Amino acid sequence: MADNRLTIDEIERWLRQDDPARLEDLWRQADAVRRQFVGDAVHLRGLIEISNHCVRGCRYCGINAANDSLVRYRMTADEILACAHRAVDFDYGTVVLQAGEDPGIETEWLADIVRRIKRRTPLAVTLSLGERPVEDLICWRKSGADRYLLRFETSDARLYGMIHPSSPGHPDRMELLGVLRRLGYEVGSGVMVGIPGQRLHSLAEDINLFARLDLDMIGIGPFIPNLHTPLGSGELAPPIDPAEQVPNTDLMTCKAVALTRRVCPQANIPSTTALATINPESGRELGLTRGANIIMPNLTPLQYRTLYEIYPGKACINETADACNACLRTRIESIGRTIGSGPGGRKRISNG
Ligand code: 5AD
Ligand code: FES
Repeated sequence: MADNRLTIDEIERWLRQDDPARLEDLWRQADAVRRQFVGDAVHLRGLIEISNHCVRGCRYCGINAANDSLVRYRMTADEILACAHRAVDFDYGTVVLQAGEDPGIETEWLADIVRRIKRRTPLAVTLSLGERPVEDLICWRKSGADRYLLRFETSDARLYGMIHPSSPGHPDRMELLGVLRRLGYEVGSGVMVGIPGQRLHSLAEDINLFARLDLDMIGIGPFIPNLHTPLGSGELAPPIDPAEQVPNTDLMTCKAVALTRRVCPQANIPSTTALATINPESGRELGLTRGANIIMPNLTPLQYRTLYEIYPGKACINETADACNACLRTRIESIGRTIGSGPGGRKRISNG
């Protein structure tokens, strides 16, 4: 078994590796570590995109506040509860409530929804609602929320500053990840692969940081240009040496997933929708065979789903929850894996 401790330089060398035979070794190592630490079960997390309102101006994201070409929606509590019950019907162990940073999602309103889901179903509840005030995070944890996702997007502070205007008076994302941990959430983060201006060295640092943060969940997807955003329309292209630029390809995403599995053997790592978007044929399977162990099927009602357009051409945007459920089960079984049951939380196993 390969040693899973990799230095930043070793990670960077792997990211630059293009020899197919060496890359086969990387996929094999990642798959072996995945099997040893989290097993063959693929856990399904039902994604409910509860609101596309957003007050922030992320320069990569299609639902940013400045995009006025988008009809905005916020699901009702009953609609959200109905989706949670569908998750139970499909035997998913978790629901992920995701939205833009939407102050219209009031603290108590969401707390009540979390309590109702926890009272009426066996589901784990994951929140992915952006940079909320600490009081909100405390309240939702007390209401029963189990996990929180907040990607740091890139550990390159300069690049992050360019693509993610900060909000005065808010703690930054790194600080919030610490707060979430102290509150007892399982903590998820992650990055985009191939942001214009992102260097191979900084992606290697991202992967090293995942390990130092001891993250429970790590989402990694390719950057997909969105014409309704400054970064996607080419308005904001930080000039760097093309040899240093991270490509936003499925191959580079898979390298990042595989290396992340090696340095974070116990983490829950999804094969992301963005990877399936740039490789509709086999992106889901590539992620799962190169380190990932989670899939997040979309449960958002179709009339809203098309409005949650973070990036164009999102996989499954016109598929019903039933269709995605059936499709994903077939895909998982086709690669000889099983479907996980129960909430599928972070396992803590001694790493010898
Ligand atoms: N391409 C790929 N991923 C994106 N995200 C936001 N915009 C894009 C884009 N244009 C990702 C971010 C965010 C997550 C919810 O979606 O990483 O954290
Ligand atoms: Fe949605 Fe295949 S995963 S249709």
